[in-house]
Amino acid sequence: MAHDVYVTRVIPQPGIDLLREQLNVTVNDDDRQLSANELKRLASTHDALVTLLTDRVDRSVLAAGGDRLKIVANVAVGYDNIDLVAASEMGILVSNTPGVLTETTADFAWALLMGIARRTAEAQTFLRAGKFHGWGIMMMLGEDVHGKTLGLVGYGRIGRAVAKRASGFDMAIQYFDPVISAEDADALLPARQVDLDTLLRTSDYVSVHTPLTPETTHLIGAAELSSMKPTAYLINTSRGPVLDEAALADALTAHTIRGAALDVFEREPEVEPRLMELDNVLITPHIASASVATRTRMATMAAENVIAAMRGERPPTALNFDEVARNG
Ligand code: DGY
Repeated sequence: MAHDVYVTRVIPQPGIDLLREQLNVTVNDDDRQLSANELKRLASTHDALVTLLTDRVDRSVLAAGGDRLKIVANVAVGYDNIDLVAASEMGILVSNTPGVLTETTADFAWALLMGIARRTAEAQTFLRAGKFHGWGIMMMLGEDVHGKTLGLVGYGRIGRAVAKRASGFDMAIQYFDPVISAEDADALLPARQVDLDTLLRTSDYVSVHTPLTPETTHLIGAAELSSMKPTAYLINTSRGPVLDEAALADALTAHTIRGAALDVFEREPEVEPRLMELDNVLITPHIASASVATRTRMATMAAENVIAAMRGERPPTALNFDEVARNG
């Protein structure tokens, strides 16, 4: 008998087509966020859930899966929306989509970095408002990117891909990552490992690329922001709660840092209201991995994980295969 899979939001069609070749697939065509009760009901009536980062798959949802639910395949590299410990205890596999979005996300971190430094969004708003009355030598002065110091908070796959691009801009690169040892770091990149305080005090651009964990929640708050140079910029494409958004709005309002560019927010889809008004912040709606090719590959990767789990095989990017095997 074919297994039943529920896909909680509309995802790129190739992912759904792949699932449909072998499994009974239902897609939430409303493309809206499901409630906790809806997720519980679906967990209890399906063998697999394909979830998005907007789905909160907590212990109660996993428990509702009972003996039936075998895998939660998240279409994201981040999996802070899923209680991985509870899933492992209950013998439910969890998978994510690492690797396939690295380069696309790094491209976008750079789009934000350059956008805020050279004021592209602000300049477009100015022009469209009919305020461009001719070239002006003092108009829209920004900051250079080339030759500056880039500080990466988190030096995993995406942090390194951002660093790779920085070498083309003749930037000095430094990183803070308590997990990665200097020996493990890519020897081809001339990047310096430093502590967080040094990184914040000496970087012109600070770009955040760390997963969200209890340790990284509000990793950058008021004290850390006050260590940054008054001319520095902060870029975040990781997860919103890594930054204290209210403290950031205070810093931007008081001009204790020069600017910020954010793709992620503490309470998405809400954005701290002051950030909506400030000129020295560039904000985008969590789209760093949003290229057609990458989102498609993320969807097919989630599908491959589900298919393998349904066959009783190791899903290619399962996060807890060994734990589940041990507990099973
Ligand atoms: C992720 O994958 O975790 C991103 O935030 C969305 O692509």
